[in-house]
Amino acid sequence: MKVLFVCLGNICRSPSAEGLFRQQLKSAGLSSQVTVDSAGTAAWHIGNPPDKRSQQAALKRGYDISNLKARQVQPEDFLHFDLILAMDKSNLDDLKAIAPKEAKAQLSLYLQRYSLAYSEVPDPYYGGEEGFELVLNLLEQAGSHLLDEVRESL
Ligand code: 4NP
Repeated sequence: MKVLFVCLGNICRSPSAEGLFRQQLKSAGLSSQVTVDSAGTAAWHIGNPPDKRSQQAALKRGYDISNLKARQVQPEDFLHFDLILAMDKSNLDDLKAIAPKEAKAQLSLYLQRYSLAYSEVPDPYYGGEEGFELVLNLLEQAGSHLLDEVRESL
């Protein structure tokens, strides 16, 4: 199974989702069963590591995302990945706009897929530290549902 997390810049939410879900897979002994990646709909931060605030918030919870590098999502990603998970509705609309006809990936809003209290992961970029904590709280909940889905599919 191949999963791609997508946000706008690929420096805050989606690399956090990637790092956290890798950690959740590792704890469950399922790392070898799932390919995990992240990308942004925008090109602004290509090649950059995650935002320092995201790195720090992740590190406080025990995982390191400092080695990740931002990339922009490509139409070919719809052929390679099984599941593409958008952080907010605007990411979802941007993804729909570049999806090729022959896409094999299922495309969902990450939190809505699991009917969580929030349907979107709010963009923390222009806000304070609490926004980064909220992102991780939401991603932890969603990640455990995704892990259940992975287990059921194996
Ligand atoms: P992300 O957050 O989509 O979660 O990576 C953002 C990062 C950068 C910008 C906006 C959102 N920006 O405007 O540069």
